[in-house]
Amino acid sequence: MNSLAGGRDPATGAPRTGTSRPFAISPAVRTFWISMVISTSPLGHLAEEYAAWWIDILGEHNHIGGADATRWLLERARLGPGRLMADCGAFVGASARMAARTTGATAVAVDLNRDFLETGRAMDGGNLVHWVTANSRRLPFRDGIFHSAWVLDADISLPELTRITTPDATLCLCCEVPVDGRGGVEAFIGELEAYGWRTAAHRQMSLEATNTWRAAEADLVRRRPYFEARYGTRPYLAQLDMLGSLVQRYERLEQGHGLFVFERR
Ligand SMILES: C[S@@+](CC[C@H](N)C(=O)[O-])C[C@H]1O[C@@H](n2cnc3c(N)ncnc32)[C@H](O)[C@@H]1O
Repeated sequence: MNSLAGGRDPATGAPRTGTSRPFAISPAVRTFWISMVISTSPLGHLAEEYAAWWIDILGEHNHIGGADATRWLLERARLGPGRLMADCGAFVGASARMAARTTGATAVAVDLNRDFLETGRAMDGGNLVHWVTANSRRLPFRDGIFHSAWVLDADISLPELTRITTPDATLCLCCEVPVDGRGGVEAFIGELEAYGWRTAAHRQMSLEATNTWRAAEADLVRRRPYFEARYGTRPYLAQLDMLGSLVQRYERLEQGHGLFVFERR
């Protein structure tokens, strides 16, 4: 993962986005707090090595909505002791670790990048999780064994997610979705329905996405010397442009973001 690919859309390298429930603290304070925590945690070396400022901006819950969004999904995922959860595109497995710690479920964190998994293993709750280096498009698991499959701002392979889950499973997603006003969210849900999933819960996150990327953009400008020294001028400017363009796309209602829990029919 490099500065343009890490933590974003694996296909486009674009950061992920959004929600309608505001943080209890302002995004700017949250960003500052995360960067302070990161500088003293195992995430610090990843933020340095992968030049991916969303690690600085988003923290270990590397998706829009952060830990709050993870908790919202966990409340609806029907996990508990004896249930098996797959966190696909897990980064440092923050969701898998939280799921194992708070529900007693057995959690498996899958990511293409072994460095991320090794860092996650060294973090709080890392001993509670199984760590698997693999591609989410070809998961090394038997059919029908997971009670909940998660993909938070990472590559979604519906055939694989459907294949590895039990008939009573939940599918928890945090992802870009077409904007409601363009009639797109129904098309997204329709794709899931074609694989036998129906919506159990949906939380719109576009506003939160806008605010997250606005705060990130402001933080990059405010701390330009820090980020420029760390990433170099051209990557710095490219990221700034990308964040600016994301904010505009959300503001123009051209892009949306959502949390979803699906169940089998
Ligand atoms: C934005 S991060 C999200 C991380 C995590 N889900 C979270 O919410 O904290 C995207 C992650 O997906 C991983 N990833 C991207 N494509 C993948 C694939 N095809 N298979 C497995 N992991 C993938 C990346 O290495 C990165 O860790």
